[in-house]
Amino acid sequence: MKILAIETSCDETACAVVKDGVNVLSNVVASQIEEHKLYGGVVPEIASRRHCENITGVCEAALEQARTTLTEIDAIAVTYAPGLIGALLVGVNFAKGLALSASCTKPNNIPLIPVHHIKGHIASNYISHPQLSPPFLSLVVSGGHTSIIHVKDYTEFEVIGSTLDDAAGEAFDKAARAMGLPYPGGIYIDRKARNGDTTAYKFPFPKTKNDFSFSGLKTAVINLIHNTKQGGVRTASQHEPLNLTDLAASFQHTVCSILAEKTIAANKNQLPIAVSGGVSANSCLRKMLPNAFFPELKYCGDNAAMIGCQAYYEFLAGNTICNSLNAFATMEL
Ligand code: KG4
Ligand code: ZN
Repeated sequence: MKILAIETSCDETACAVVKDGVNVLSNVVASQIEEHKLYGGVVPEIASRRHCENITGVCEAALEQARTTLTEIDAIAVTYAPGLIGALLVGVNFAKGLALSASCTKPNNIPLIPVHHIKGHIASNYISHPQLSPPFLSLVVSGGHTSIIHVKDYTEFEVIGSTLDDAAGEAFDKAARAMGLPYPGGIYIDRKARNGDTTAYKFPFPKTKNDFSFSGLKTAVINLIHNTKQGGVRTASQHEPLNLTDLAASFQHTVCSILAEKTIAANKNQLPIAVSGGVSANSCLRKMLPNAFFPELKYCGDNAAMIGCQAYYEFLAGNTICNSLNAFATMEL
């Protein structure tokens, strides 16, 4: 079964053709990062407009790279929640129009499969690791989400813990900004931390049970930078001037320790662990969870292949919709 998948929940316009869940025939991503970088974060209206401009070309490229045509596509999948509402609406409406036009050349209506963005991130590991199947414990760490999820089956989920404030990726991005690094900061902190001393700066661990909290850590980094700039309070352990390489390493090590420790503690039934989402690209997190499944780097950030993969399982579970599909900025798993 060939699924054409569309993802526009944030700042990547993405289309992919995926066969039978895990066989990725094409995976095209048009990133808007360079433009949003100018503003230090995603500007929602710019994101929507770029999706509008790019989606037709990205879709055509995905079909071409898969050496297929719309007439050979069996279903169309689209991310419908959660995300930036204006951005999601572009993908959803494009998918609806496409399904309608594809149906004109087919005897039966072509199914439209709505996919939850986080379920897509979870599914990215099925592509990279075909041996992985539910049940397993999933740690989803992205710019907007940080959750530990018990994946009972391909379409059955139980959230065990999530963040009470900032998402892990958001903490990376905000700390990076305070350090003067470009947006989105996760990868720049990862690079800067490479030769740093992870013990140079001490940060607090949140005292939450199953849930995460990163705002205290983020504020501690920001305060440390501001105080140092202003010649304020310093402790003997703090380098002078602030050593950004050590700071990046210490911050990253703290975030990843929190993520790894909480995930291992939540894994009461010793299930396989699978990590996904943009932050799953982080080299320190990968070292801290050596036995966990991680997607290939191209499937860590937002992409449509993961949406096409999850869509296959949604289709098998009967989760299709016709012409009434809407987009939602927030949506429970
Ligand atoms: O999954 P994603 O592409 O978009 C959302 O659904 O949010 O995740 C983006 C997040 C950003 O916060 C970015 O800084 C972070 O993933 N990220 C990283 C790394 N690469 C991307 N964080 C830490 N280390 C990385 N290597
Ligand atoms: Zn994402």
